[in-house]
Amino acid sequence: MRFIYALIFWIVIAIIAFFAFAFSGVYQVGADVPHWPITRHAIGMVREHAVERRIADIKPPPLNDPALVKLGAEHYSEMCVGCHLAPGVGHSELRDGLYPKPPNLTRFAPDPAEAFWIIKHGLKMTAMPAWGETHDDHTLWAIVAYLQKQPRMSAVEYHLLTAGAGDMEGHGQAPAPASTAASAPASGMR
Ligand code: HEC
Repeated sequence: MRFIYALIFWIVIAIIAFFAFAFSGVYQVGADVPHWPITRHAIGMVREHAVERRIADIKPPPLNDPALVKLGAEHYSEMCVGCHLAPGVGHSELRDGLYPKPPNLTRFAPDPAEAFWIIKHGLKMTAMPAWGETHDDHTLWAIVAYLQKQPRMSAVEYHLLTAGAGDMEGHGQAPAPASTAASAPASGMR
């Protein structure tokens, strides 16, 4: 019985300590201060196991088709370069300010099934968006196919491959009609 009381006592102490810590405001939430090593390890461990568990049944399709790679490169150049860089793009102001910093995907080709899952679902508490909200699986596999080639690609090849990317449906920078832009109430901009 004494053991149970001692256990309850320490659980209550731990809960009080947690709230005292949270309410004190000392924890750094700014993106320019790194996590404590223990926090970083804990997040890494949770993420690794969570992704591993969810990719067990994912079978990548053939990823060598040049048309698929081109489609992926076009989407990549429109949506990913600012965070993950590209051949000939070695720096971005957006990426420099992010924490955790998005990996430089010109340096390594990520595992296809894992990359597919992360690109589709995103990663909570990082800046990595869930692209599955707006793109079908075929397009996401195309991006994965491109990622397999990217580390060996020159800046010139990348440019040739992505020259037409701006014309893609859903990515063009079409200007808003002047009348709507001028008269839209602020609440309509959400
Ligand atoms: C706003 C920034 C941002 C954008 C845009 C973005 N990502 Fe990410 N991405 C991240 C961050 C942050 C991480 C996770 C970093 C971490 O946890 O260490 C990440 C992780 C990933 C990973 C996992 C890499 C690994 O093996 O560790 C892949 C693959 C990836 N992103 C692909 C993409 C692709 C493809 C696109 C475009 C369709 C994209 N990302 C767009 C920020 C971004």
